[in-house]
Amino acid sequence: MKARLLSAVLKRSIKPFVFTSGHPREPADDAHNLGLYVHVPFCTTMCAFCPYFKMPYDSELARSFAGAVVQEIEAAGGGHGRRSVLSVYFGGGTPALLTEYLPAIRIAIDGAFDVRGPCGIELHPDDIRPNTAAELSTAGFDMVSIGIQSFQNHCLESLGRRPVDLSERITMMRDGGFTVVDVDLIFGLPGQTTRDIQEDFRIAAARGATQISTYPFIDFTYADNARPPLGRREKHELLDAVLRVSREVGFERTSVWTFARKGTGRYSSVTRDSYLGFGPSAASLLRSSFSVNVFSVPEYIQVLNSGGSPTALSVHLTERERALFWMFWNSYNLRMDREVFTELFGGAIEDAFGMEPRIAGRLGILERRNNSYAITKKGAYFFHLVEQQYTNQYIDKVWRLSTESPWPDKLVLH
Ligand SMILES: C[S@@+](CC[C@H](N)C(=O)[O-])C[C@H]1O[C@@H](n2cnc3c(N)ncnc32)[C@H](O)[C@@H]1O
Ligand code: SF4
Repeated sequence: MKARLLSAVLKRSIKPFVFTSGHPREPADDAHNLGLYVHVPFCTTMCAFCPYFKMPYDSELARSFAGAVVQEIEAAGGGHGRRSVLSVYFGGGTPALLTEYLPAIRIAIDGAFDVRGPCGIELHPDDIRPNTAAELSTAGFDMVSIGIQSFQNHCLESLGRRPVDLSERITMMRDGGFTVVDVDLIFGLPGQTTRDIQEDFRIAAARGATQISTYPFIDFTYADNARPPLGRREKHELLDAVLRVSREVGFERTSVWTFARKGTGRYSSVTRDSYLGFGPSAASLLRSSFSVNVFSVPEYIQVLNSGGSPTALSVHLTERERALFWMFWNSYNLRMDREVFTELFGGAIEDAFGMEPRIAGRLGILERRNNSYAITKKGAYFFHLVEQQYTNQYIDKVWRLSTESPWPDKLVLH
């Protein structure tokens, strides 16, 4: 209810977001600071807590998927010369399961786009073997993100993961020469203490992580968690403990949930001004629309092989909604650049959102610094709460419906 109210106030409208089917993705011609994302929907184990779209690895389907994703990339890039892109991310799922096809996908990307930034890939700790770093570097990757989740046996067990020492895998990637080695940790796990999460953070930093992402444990309605996450108060204490330990080991906060060694790059696939997503379930955010691809591997392959569009649902965004999207993700990044806002939306933030920056300033959420707005520590906690609501209200609904029915007619989100 609170999320609905906040959304209506910010949008200045009580109209819901209506996703409809049957529209191909908007061309990326007017997209600003474009990034690319490739979703690889295969895993060897299906983790009960994980909301992402995936299926058990199947070598035949994986081969057909690789062919289809190349077709999707070529179709999106065609027509107007090679559009420049600022980053490329491969996520999943477990993209490293497709190591033999990654070079061909990367060649297709380079043929269709002019890549002017880093290329990152998500890794399950089980993917990391002695030759992994060399294989990934050869395939053109310079950033990795490792889904460690926790180093504590009791936390790994609560996630259904094997209690094995994973710290050496971080060192292997650090020694592989990647510019960014991100380690994902989860906080708010049943039975987790502030000591556990601080210990996890210290181990990740000592083993060579350049970025540590700490995500609050979220219980998706369609997940199969044995026990629910810790409550709001406990999560608050854990997040505060993360902040303290991050300072102790010399990391700086780079977003609501990420921390980085000073002077290192960022691993962040969603905080782009605009992005094109390829593969089943991948989302695209363009000049005036948000869309998601079909949540089914066979349907994805079939529609591309028959020359169709894999877009299953899309929503047109008004200029104000698009600006809100931008402000939401820039708030997650703890900084809104006023000049970028003007470049994107034509006017000043204060003209589009007269009262919000003033109210947020009075509440101690936001501070004006030169030509930007910085999100304060209090503001970061507020966004931590808002983002969990956003995940429950929007992401959970879109992903659940799309998983139940690959080509839904319509989806209404209030
Ligand atoms: C696609 S997954 C990870 C990639 C890789 N397949 C793995 O398992 O390590 C991306 C990240 O999302 C986070 N994540 C997944 N499910 C979550 C949940 N229910 N709550 C919070 N974070 C979650 C985890 O930290 C995970 O590393
Ligand atoms: S957490 Fe990783 S390995 Fe587990 S199901 Fe999700 S994507 Fe696959």
